[in-house]
Amino acid sequence: MLSLRLKAIASLIKKKDNVIDIGCDHGYLCLYLAHLGCAKLIASDINQNALNNAIANIKKEKMEDKIMTVLSDGLTNINVKGFNTVVISGMGTSTILKILADAHKLENIEKIIVQSNNDLFSLRKVMNSRGYIIKQEVVVLDKNKYYVIIEFIKGVHKYNYSELMYGPILIKKKDSKDYFHYLLTKNITILNKVPKLKILIRMKIKKQIKIIKKILVSN
Ligand SMILES: C[S@@+](CC[C@H](N)C(=O)[O-])C[C@H]1O[C@@H](n2cnc3c(N)ncnc32)[C@H](O)[C@@H]1O
Repeated sequence: MLSLRLKAIASLIKKKDNVIDIGCDHGYLCLYLAHLGCAKLIASDINQNALNNAIANIKKEKMEDKIMTVLSDGLTNINVKGFNTVVISGMGTSTILKILADAHKLENIEKIIVQSNNDLFSLRKVMNSRGYIIKQEVVVLDKNKYYVIIEFIKGVHKYNYSELMYGPILIKKKDSKDYFHYLLTKNITILNKVPKLKILIRMKIKKQIKIIKKILVSN
């Protein structure tokens, strides 16, 4: 069965979308999307073993006519013509941003769906500076871990610090309250472990606690 995290990613994709999944690993996302009715998909990975797993799974489910597989570092070997959506999930922000630096390949891509394992502030900030805005954000608790999924589309908007740090959509969503309670507890726990003399670090954590409390009061 597909993980809640990958299901949450799939919830941002429509039947009519033609999707490139970069770093597909097992290929489960493309298979799920193919079963949902997406007709044109690319499952791609930099690692031949990972891609072989995807190829075997695609064959097993007889989805070769819908899912093409490509060995590729990011978008390098991928012909993006006819595709409108790129998904990158389960990687760190620096790898994701490196892959998405290929502006030429992304020219006709309408939406980019990203689930990064770290540093969401840099992800939002850099993508925003490259001419993207955030259309949708989803937070999902999967096996006791929170994952944030962000959909970027082309556009211009200047986000403030709190929006870049915690998500312009998420901070307004009622159903992300549990996530912010979790972040609050996490920051308080860290603060309690930081020695009193580490004033700068303590100030930074206190700033985050203040912002998160404000978010929780306002939504
Ligand atoms: C942790 S797995 C995540 C798999 C899947 N996307 C998911 O979210 O469950 C990361 C995958 O990304 C692939 N990967 C890492 N860097 C990549 C790159 N530059 N281009 C394509 N694939 C990459 C790895 O080989 C690996 O299969």
